[in-house]
Amino acid sequence: MTMELTQTTQIKRVGVIGAGQMGNGISQVLAQSGFNVIIMDVSDASLKKALGTIEKSLAKLFEKGKLPEHPPVIMSRIKCTTQLKDFADCDFAIEAVSEQEELKKSIFKQLDEILPAHAIIASNTSSLPITRLASSTKRAGQFIGMHFMNPVPVMQLVEIIRGHATSENTCQLTKSLAEQAGKTTVFSQDFPGFIVNRILMPMINEAFFTLMEGIASAEDIDAGMKLGTNQPMGPLALADFIGLDTCLAIMKVLHDGLGDSKYRPCPLLKKYVDAGHLGRKSGRGVYSY
Ligand code: 3HC
Repeated sequence: MTMELTQTTQIKRVGVIGAGQMGNGISQVLAQSGFNVIIMDVSDASLKKALGTIEKSLAKLFEKGKLPEHPPVIMSRIKCTTQLKDFADCDFAIEAVSEQEELKKSIFKQLDEILPAHAIIASNTSSLPITRLASSTKRAGQFIGMHFMNPVPVMQLVEIIRGHATSENTCQLTKSLAEQAGKTTVFSQDFPGFIVNRILMPMINEAFFTLMEGIASAEDIDAGMKLGTNQPMGPLALADFIGLDTCLAIMKVLHDGLGDSKYRPCPLLKKYVDAGHLGRKSGRGVYSY
C-alpha cells in the first residue's frame, strides 16, 4: 500500500464515528454502494438504534425497487464497535459526532494515531472550520470537510470543504467517494457556514424573528414559504427537523466568524433551546410531535 490513496478502488473499508441520525445515514448510503463500513459509538444502545433505523430505511427503499440488493446483504457490510482502535484497517474515516469542537478534536487526534498513514479523515461538521479541526492531526493534507444533508438516504447533496492544507488528491477522492454513494457534490472554501448553512440558517433565523415580532403564526409562516417558494417544508418545521440547538449553534458560528450583526441569533430561537424544546428529537420545538 502506498502512503497516499490514488483511487477510490483502494477504499475498501470506511469508518464512521457517531451513530446518530447523520452517522447512520452516512453508513447506510456507503454500505448500499458496496463499501464495508464500521460504525463507532460510545454506547451499544446507540449502535443498536442506528442499525434499526438503517434497516427501516432500507426496507422502505427496497419496497420501492430503489435498491440493487436485498437489505440483509447490505446490512452484512455494516459492523459496529465501541472502540476507535477497530479503525486500524480503515482507508477513510468520516466523523459525525455532535458539534463540540473539543470532542471532535480529541477524536481526530486518536484517529491520526490509529488509522493507516494513507487514510483520509473527513468531518461532517455543519459549520466548524475545517482548517482548525485539521490542525489537531498530523495529516492536514488528508483532512477534509464532507457535509451530508439530513435525511442522508434521501438528500442528493454532499458539500465538500477544502481546508487550508487539504490536497487536491484528497478533494478528488472525497468527491469520487460521495459520487459512488449516489450523491452530487459541490465544493466550498472553508468559511463559516460553507454554502448551504450560510444561506439556509439566516433564513430560518429570520423565520424566528418573523414569529417573535408577531407578523404571522408559525403555521402561516411555514405555509407562506412552502407554498410561495416551493420548499418541501416551511423554515420553522425544517428547524424542528434539524434541531433548534443545531440551528442556534450554527447561527453562533456565523455571528462569531463573520462578525456581522445581521447574523445575531433570534432571541426566540434561544428561548426555545433554553426551554429544552429542541424540535422533533425532544418531542417539542416550534410544533409538538
Ligand atoms: N430513508 C429512506 N426514505 C426516506 C427517508 C429515509 N430516512 N426519509 C424519507 N424518505 C422517503 C419517503 O419514503 C418518501 O418516499 P416516496 O416519495 O417514494 O413515498 C419520501 O422520502 C418523502 O418522504 P415523506 O413522504 O415521509 O415526507 P415528505 O414528502 O415531507 O419528505 C423530506 C420528507 C424528504 C424530509 C422532505 O420534507 C424534505 O426534503 N425536507 C427538507 C429537508 C432538508 O432541507 N434537509 C436539509 C437540512 S440542512 C442540513 O441537513 C444541513 C445541516 O448541517 C443542518
